[in-house]
Amino acid sequence: MSEFPKTRLRRLRRTEALRALVRETKTDVGDLVYPLFVVEGKRLKQEVSSMPGICRYSPDLLPKEVETIAKLGIPAVILFGIPQKKDGLASSACDPKGVIQQAIHSIKKAVPELLVVTDVCLCEYTSHGHCGVVVDGDVDNDKTLELLARTALSHAQAGADVVAPSDMMDGRVKAIRRALDENSFTHIPILSYAAKYASAFYGPFREAAESAPQFGDRRSYQMDPPNWREALREVEQDIAEGADMVMVKPALPYLDIICKVRDAFNHPLAAYSVSGEYAMVKAAARQGWLDEQKVVLEMLTAIKRAGADIIITYYAKEAARWL
Ligand code: PBG
Repeated sequence: MSEFPKTRLRRLRRTEALRALVRETKTDVGDLVYPLFVVEGKRLKQEVSSMPGICRYSPDLLPKEVETIAKLGIPAVILFGIPQKKDGLASSACDPKGVIQQAIHSIKKAVPELLVVTDVCLCEYTSHGHCGVVVDGDVDNDKTLELLARTALSHAQAGADVVAPSDMMDGRVKAIRRALDENSFTHIPILSYAAKYASAFYGPFREAAESAPQFGDRRSYQMDPPNWREALREVEQDIAEGADMVMVKPALPYLDIICKVRDAFNHPLAAYSVSGEYAMVKAAARQGWLDEQKVVLEMLTAIKRAGADIIITYYAKEAARWL
C-alpha cells in the first residue's frame, strides 16, 4: 500500500475530463422504466395529488403519452390498472377487455417497439384492496395463485412483453410460468418483485392506484424491513421457480439489499424507486430545499452503483432529459 505523499487520490479528481475517465458507474436512459397508471374510462387525464407531474390516463389517451416516452429514449413502461369494478375475486384483472388489456392494445398500436411490462397483482381489482383472495380474514396463498396465473396469461394474450408479479405469494412465479408455457407463451419473460418489503414508502401509489387495503395491512405477505437474509431466500426461490429477472423494492432505503442480491446472483436485477421516494424529492424541490436535478441523478447513480441493471422510476421522463 502506497502512502501519502506518494499517493494523492485527488490527482484523478482535478478536471471533469479526468473524473469522467475514471468514473465507475454510468446511468443511461436505456436502463429506465416508466410506470404508467391506467384508469378505465374515456378522455381521462387525472394528476395524482401526492405525486405532482404523474397522471392517470384512460387507455384512449395513452398513444400520445407513450410517443413522448419513446421519443425520450425510454425503452419500457410498466402498467398499473385502475378498473371501474372491483370484487372479492378480482374478476376484472383477467378480463380480456379489462383496463390493462385495453391499455396494452392501445400502446402496442401506437408504439409497437416500446416494451410493455405489466404489474401482475390483484390489489387494484379486489374490493378489500388485498393482493389476493381473502379467506377468514387472511390472504389465502394457494387460492390466489390460480388468479395470478390467469391474469398474467391475459396480459400476455393482450400483447404484453414482460409480466411482473408483485403480490408476494409463495409459488406465484411457478404458477405463472406454467400458465404461460401451456399456452404457447414460452418466450414471455417474468420479472418477479422478488424482495418486496412491506414499506410505508408506497403511500402515494395507493392513492394513485386506489389500492389501499380496507382492513389490516400487507405484512403477512410483503417482507419485514429488518430482514436481509430472507431477501436472498426470496430471490433464490423465485429464480428456482423460473424468474428471468428479479427486483428489489423500494430502492433508496434498500441499497444494501440491491448490493447483496447483485453479489449473490447473476440474473438481471431491477430496482423500483417507489412513489414515496418520488414524492419526498418532489416536495422538497418544490419548497426550494433541494436541487431536484442533482438529487435525482445522484439517486439513480446510487441505485446503479449498488448493483441494479434496471431502474423503475417516476422520474424517468425528467431524467431522460437531464442525462
Ligand atoms: C401492487 C404494487 C404496489 C406497488 C407496486 N405494485 C403497492 C403495494 O404493494 O401496496 C408500489 C409502487 C410504488 O409505491 O411506487 N401490489
